[in-house]
Amino acid sequence: MAGSDPKLTAKLVLPDSKEVVLPVIVGTEDEHAIDIRNLRQDSGYITLDNGYMNTGSTTSAITYLDGEQGILHYRGYPIEELAEKSSFVETSYLLIKGELPTISEREAFGDMLTRHSLIHEDMHQFFAGYPPTSHPMAVLSAMVTSLSAYYPDCLDRQAPVDLHITRLLSKVRTIAAFSYKKSIGQPLIYPKNSLNYCGNFLHMMFAVPSEDYEVSPVLEKALNQLLILHADHEQNCSTSTVRIVGSSGANVYAAIAAGILALWGPLHGGANQAVIEMLEEIRASGGDFKKFLDDVKNKRDNRRLMGFGHRVYKNYDPRAKILKKMCDEVLAHLGIKDPLLDLAKGMEEIALRDDYFVSKKLYPNVDFYSGIIYRAMGIPTNMFTVMFALGRLPGWIAHWKEMVDDKETKIGRPRQIYTGQRVRKYMPIEQR
Ligand code: ACO
Repeated sequence: MAGSDPKLTAKLVLPDSKEVVLPVIVGTEDEHAIDIRNLRQDSGYITLDNGYMNTGSTTSAITYLDGEQGILHYRGYPIEELAEKSSFVETSYLLIKGELPTISEREAFGDMLTRHSLIHEDMHQFFAGYPPTSHPMAVLSAMVTSLSAYYPDCLDRQAPVDLHITRLLSKVRTIAAFSYKKSIGQPLIYPKNSLNYCGNFLHMMFAVPSEDYEVSPVLEKALNQLLILHADHEQNCSTSTVRIVGSSGANVYAAIAAGILALWGPLHGGANQAVIEMLEEIRASGGDFKKFLDDVKNKRDNRRLMGFGHRVYKNYDPRAKILKKMCDEVLAHLGIKDPLLDLAKGMEEIALRDDYFVSKKLYPNVDFYSGIIYRAMGIPTNMFTVMFALGRLPGWIAHWKEMVDDKETKIGRPRQIYTGQRVRKYMPIEQR
């Protein structure tokens, strides 16, 4: 377990020569942190770290990530093994409960997810209230917040946590598929209890009442892998949002809805949509990706190579490696030749040899290839970030639960250094 090592301390010398001795915390993978929790109290100083580039907000036993080596583990299990051998439901159980389930535990968990897959019929009317141009992330976040109105016992301190967690995992999938059906004007397809988690999602997305729909095992496996790869990534922007909103005592639906909204931005989960839009734009203007890369390097119009770069990975994102391979397999299985895939591979090849990207350690991240797979599966571009949210859900829930169960949790409340006006006298409007 992580803890303060009495043999290790750090010494900080302040401008007035005062010295402060700070405890050092060591994690199970030998990560070191200087514990500054009492720094202000002991010295009057705070630390300033714009964007939390170097700030640990918590200790956590869920996910281990080494960005220099390109390593990602959920609860100690390498992501490569989970993606190959596990299912999304099993991985969700692992993240939330801490251990892989036995056969009977997995069956009981799967049964619970099946039993809670419907949403209240009254909520169907909500979909009709949105204009057809609504972004599905706006609909998803509002619907998840609305779940708290249908399960008001979530507001109690003694709320049945496991039940709310199951509801979230199961109903977010239904909401995502229903919002798509509504957006294209097709009748809602209800979940089918004989199908498993990912198969059921594909059924709700793509079945129509007039025809039989058979879930493709290849697509079901691909979806399981995609969701597993997105399931957690320690203290990223959306997960930190879930923790900070939850730390105020807000209910689990509110905390998860906040995470969904944080994910929406193009620098975070919205990048999967932005990558496809970028590739489409390059293709529409003749396919000259070298010129596009030159614009990126010259920072023309603040252009970025979307799907590249990461705050933590300074090496190839292990998830992108798996996705690149999956991309070839899924497209080959479906007999699809997507020119965007050729464009993406061409851009990657050049970027990985170019001094600009090499010197800044910019590699493809999880979003670079995921959109091409979703597109091949028939999922529309504006739904990509919803797919990310569906995958990240167990991670958000695991972090919310870890935070709530931790006796040391305090409300998240950073400090600041004030740079505004000093106190001044109020002037009545006629005298200004
Ligand atoms: N294309 C071109 N240049 C880039 C890129 C990129 N994708 N990413 C970073 N850089 C450059 C920056 O311009 C900056 O250059 P400078 O030193 O000359 O000013 C340098 O690399 C460092 O970039 P920062 O933005 O300071 O790095 P930070 O860690 O804050 O940002 C981020 C990480 C937001 C992911 C960034 O790499 C980015 O914008 N990538 C594109 C969007 C994207 O793919 N986001 C998804 C990330 S994965 C996820 O959230 C699921």
